[in-house]
Amino acid sequence: MAQLRDGFQSRLGFVLAASGAAVGLGNIWGFPTQAANHGGGAFLLVYFIVIFLLAVPALYTELYLGHQAQANPVKALKNAWQDQAPKVGAAAGYLGLAGAIVMLSFYSIVAGWMLAYALEPITTFFGFTDISNFLQTDSMARNFVFTPLMLILTASIILKGVKSGIETWSRRLMPMLLVLLVGLIAYIATLDGANEGFAAYLVPNFSHILDPNLIIAAMGQAFFSLSLGVGCMMIYGSYLQPDANLPRLTASVALLDTGVAFLAGLLIIPAIYVAQHNGVQVFSDGKLIGEGQLIFAILPELFNTMGEIGLVVGLLFFVLMSIASLTSTISSTEIPVAFLVENHQVERKSATFIVSLTVLAASSLIIFNFDWLFGLVIMVLTQYQLPLMGLFYFVTVGWLWRRGNQLHQASSGFKFWFAQYIRFVCPILMTAVFANVAFGQ
Ligand code: ALA
Repeated sequence: MAQLRDGFQSRLGFVLAASGAAVGLGNIWGFPTQAANHGGGAFLLVYFIVIFLLAVPALYTELYLGHQAQANPVKALKNAWQDQAPKVGAAAGYLGLAGAIVMLSFYSIVAGWMLAYALEPITTFFGFTDISNFLQTDSMARNFVFTPLMLILTASIILKGVKSGIETWSRRLMPMLLVLLVGLIAYIATLDGANEGFAAYLVPNFSHILDPNLIIAAMGQAFFSLSLGVGCMMIYGSYLQPDANLPRLTASVALLDTGVAFLAGLLIIPAIYVAQHNGVQVFSDGKLIGEGQLIFAILPELFNTMGEIGLVVGLLFFVLMSIASLTSTISSTEIPVAFLVENHQVERKSATFIVSLTVLAASSLIIFNFDWLFGLVIMVLTQYQLPLMGLFYFVTVGWLWRRGNQLHQASSGFKFWFAQYIRFVCPILMTAVFANVAFGQ
């Protein structure tokens, strides 16, 4: 079967784009914060178990749905539900689409902060104190400068399409991200206090391990980190060549994403302890001081204590965060853009414009109601919508989708056993995690 739509041209291009979608603020900020607050190595252990038992099968399932349909999530899910209730499938596709817009609306705000903080060392170096203060101080004006800037950067890549935009830029940005991450870990590891951080990160505190909140936090984190549940992986899967080896690609993306999350912990947690060693207050009541403050107070304060080199380290760190954000925002933007192009024959340029404006409107709503809305949308999306959509994919592929579903038709081998796994084990495990949270506290 020839590939008629725009799509990824190589295996590496896909792996870099999909792991770019996966690797983001969730890995470099969310994961280390969760680990620091949930027993270090204990969180790591539960996270790896959840990744292996649930998130990787969900990743495969989502890629598989897109790959088989060679279409956007609304079409793909409608198609999978064709014999049962196509409207239910399409509705789930729309829910994912709405999730992608919601994800982009808060993600673009935070990504904008990263851009602002990446510029600050430059303005400080040149002595533009007022601009530096503007860049470092939380304000509505700063949000309304940098959120649209992030949307414009994202749109400029999306406009070029899958091969020339998403794939080309992922090939450029992901190697830069890895080099920056490893370089920063190597530098922080040489500083006093870092060893204490390595120990806190890697040695498990098992008193946390049966906490239902730890398990749901790990599951939400795993689904968010792999960009599951809103259709990012479904749309990227749909751009794969028809003969792609999905199990291998799934393993590569999951390994890269989990590897980067693990590496980010090796950077952030030792950095927290270095900051503490340098006199910065980092913990209060045994918990990291406010999650937001980790990146925007503790780390900048740490960079300040380093003198001139701190400007370079700060610059590199926030460039790293900006790259990680950008490779994620492009994947979420591609979902509604592909939907408008394929289902409503809107030109790609106009579709990108419509989606960017919609996200800007949603972001503005959050900016105006920041105190109560920001945390709420993140919590509802990550802890509930994403895993529940994962559950929906398992039920769809395992039970409902018959025609054209090779997993359903397999009677032996990997496909057969995998189908049994996602049919029985995954839904039961996920239900157990939710029941644990509902009744376990
Ligand atoms: N998967 C992206 C992240 O981890 C959204 O930030």
